[in-house]
Amino acid sequence: MRAPLPSAPDKSPESTPAALFFRDAEQVLTLAGPPVPRRGRDLADLGVVPGGSVLVSGPSIAAIGRRRDLEAEARRLQAKVIDCRGRVVMPGFVDSHTHLVFAGSRVEDYERRLAGATYEEIARAGGGISYTARLVAEASPRSLESQARRFLDEFAAHGTTTVEVKTGYGLEVESEIKLLQVIRALAREPRAHAPAVGPVFSPARVGIVPTLLAAHALPASYRGRRTEYLDDVIVRLIPFAARRKMAEFVDCFCDRGAFSVDECRRLLTAGAAHGLIPRLHAEQLTRTGATRLGIETKAASVDHLDHLSTADIRALARSNTVATLLPGVNLHLGLKDYAPARKLVDAGAAIALASDFNPGTSPTLNMQFILSLACDAMRLTPAEAISAATINAAYSLRREREIGSLEPGKQADVIVMNVDDYRNIPYYVGLNHCAMTVRKGRVAFSKRLGDG
Ligand code: NIG
Ligand code: FE
Repeated sequence: MRAPLPSAPDKSPESTPAALFFRDAEQVLTLAGPPVPRRGRDLADLGVVPGGSVLVSGPSIAAIGRRRDLEAEARRLQAKVIDCRGRVVMPGFVDSHTHLVFAGSRVEDYERRLAGATYEEIARAGGGISYTARLVAEASPRSLESQARRFLDEFAAHGTTTVEVKTGYGLEVESEIKLLQVIRALAREPRAHAPAVGPVFSPARVGIVPTLLAAHALPASYRGRRTEYLDDVIVRLIPFAARRKMAEFVDCFCDRGAFSVDECRRLLTAGAAHGLIPRLHAEQLTRTGATRLGIETKAASVDHLDHLSTADIRALARSNTVATLLPGVNLHLGLKDYAPARKLVDAGAAIALASDFNPGTSPTLNMQFILSLACDAMRLTPAEAISAATINAAYSLRREREIGSLEPGKQADVIVMNVDDYRNIPYYVGLNHCAMTVRKGRVAFSKRLGDG
């Protein structure tokens, strides 16, 4: 009889044993390898261990291998056995681009677009980012946090263990600071505790990586005063976020109707001078040269990339800047063209996949669905898409030594997928295959499956 998975969601810190033994998986996807992004053919190498088992001790991976080689140690640790027969065990998804904190929705924009208006037309007519920013300005920190927490539970339920979270719907400095504070509250890990028996730590269900999206849209109050706005962001907002360590990255929306390459260069350079690592919304609506700016400023990632030139693709392939693709946006905006994923991979660029979860252009947080889009609409293989959504995304967040693969010593961010072959994850599109999510060795989500 198959042992039932521990029931959850369970908020009590005492409920997860200090060791877990994921036993007899059909496939363990280790993604093992050097802590560098996977390119070209290496992108498809998932380090599959057929019939493998994974032993987790406390917050870390202890060992991966055959059941018989791990069993004695699992017994010594009194590990809770999780029967993974017929299932795939793999690293949790790393979602490296989201706008998690917002108020309200943009379902009105959605209907206007379905009736024929474009994203840019709606933005010019007062919808779009400015609409969400007005709602955020009125929202209390507590309501922003509680909406975001509900979404974080959904991330965990769909197998995501790390989420990059951008500010950006504040626009005004004060409102951006409010968002930084909400993100800090979401990222807080409960204090470590050391009971006589049971776990010795109590992490949050999903890890948060904070990014200051320093320029998203010009606030209405600064109309005609662009330079003054940028000065304010540089003098007040960037130093505030950096000094208090409220952000690790600085981002800008570099595009037609948003901010120019020169404006973004100023902001990214100012951020970098304060220790914030650049990343960039680039070439989404049109080609502006933002990709080159990203490479020039040693950005960790340039994101979207719908309008790349052949020379841009070559430049990315020569750089360590990750090309992050967000196909959820193309689907939701009803675009027929997608970013040139195949060309990027074949040229040797390091690609990542992310949800871009936000109310305006990508209201999905399901990374399994993003894998399906990456395969069905961008012609990646399932293996390439999985590497892009785990180890390469971790690299783009400068977390490649902690997360993104299952290797002894790394953080135990492990998911159990209810499929017997990893290719079925994107193949059975639109389903949630996630049976269990473990972050830092603690159960963040578990579906109770029938025995047998
Ligand atoms: O990544 N491109 C800019 N920012 C978001 C969209 C924000 C919005 O429309 O609310 C994006 O697509
Ligand atoms: Fe975005």
